[in-house]
Amino acid sequence: LNRYQYLYGDFWVSGFALTGVISFQQNFQAKDSDVILATLPKSGTTWLKAIVYSIINRKICSLDNSPLNTTNVHDLVPFLDCKVYLNGQNPDLSGIPPPRVFTTHVPYPSLPESIKSTTCRIVYLCRNPFDSFVSLWHFHTRARPKDLEPISLEDCFDMFCAGASGFGPFWDHFLGFWKESLKNPKKVLFLTYEDMQMDNKLQMKRLADFLGYPFVENEEKEGIIDKISKFCSFESMRELQPNKSGNKRGGHFDVSSFFRKGEVGDWMNYLTPSMADRLKKVVDEKLGGSGLNLKLLC
Ligand code: A3P
Repeated sequence: LNRYQYLYGDFWVSGFALTGVISFQQNFQAKDSDVILATLPKSGTTWLKAIVYSIINRKICSLDNSPLNTTNVHDLVPFLDCKVYLNGQNPDLSGIPPPRVFTTHVPYPSLPESIKSTTCRIVYLCRNPFDSFVSLWHFHTRARPKDLEPISLEDCFDMFCAGASGFGPFWDHFLGFWKESLKNPKKVLFLTYEDMQMDNKLQMKRLADFLGYPFVENEEKEGIIDKISKFCSFESMRELQPNKSGNKRGGHFDVSSFFRKGEVGDWMNYLTPSMADRLKKVVDEKLGGSGLNLKLLC
């Protein structure tokens, strides 16, 4: 079961996460004060977790004393599907002090009803599928059980373009959250990895405002936004002890594999011109007319 992707309803799920997804859908009771971070795998989830955690907790602890220095971010801001409810668990989460911050890869239409009916907030981080594909392929190559044949870039790409990648098709995942963010901007904030790379400070301000933790003038003068931005940067996070090789996330993945290159445009080093054309056609066909424009380079 653990080795394959399964088409569950209208999205794909890795075998290891399937029972977790179902238990999450059936049991999670959102609260109005909850913050849900939603992403496709390899979209910069780890980065978003660190930023949101640091924004929300900045009054409680300085960055020097941040639990991020000693605890892996995936434990501080856990995945509901791939950790909290993993293997069908159903823990009591009611005692966690607000705001509870969780993460999920589940597409918008398949989220538990309570997430939609409460005033809890959703932050969606979208990454261009060219880079997220390359990131995914590296991750699969690293995480794939050793007794399975390695998956070639070409085979993985065929599946990706057909929509068969974890929690995909990627276009449906994007569109579910994109449309909801247009309909209900107080409910869903739609961010992109590329904008975060291009203007991290501006995106952090948008995030802080959306979450109800806006940066005040004094903080701006003290340069707190810059400090959080630097603290959560790829180079800084990768060097923190809890993100070093040897630590496992949810017993599955070595946490260091969540830090590879952290760039926009690395796809150019992996996709041939014809592969790039093919993916561009998929993007144009599936996202054309939605108003969602993806940056492929910064
Ligand atoms: P690359 O493989 O392209 O380097 P996720 O956290 O959703 O699994 O995404 C992992 C991707 O985000 C990887 O992309 C990883 O290097 C990148 N990443 C991790 N931490 C980051 C950070 N602090 N800033 C920018 N990118 C980061």
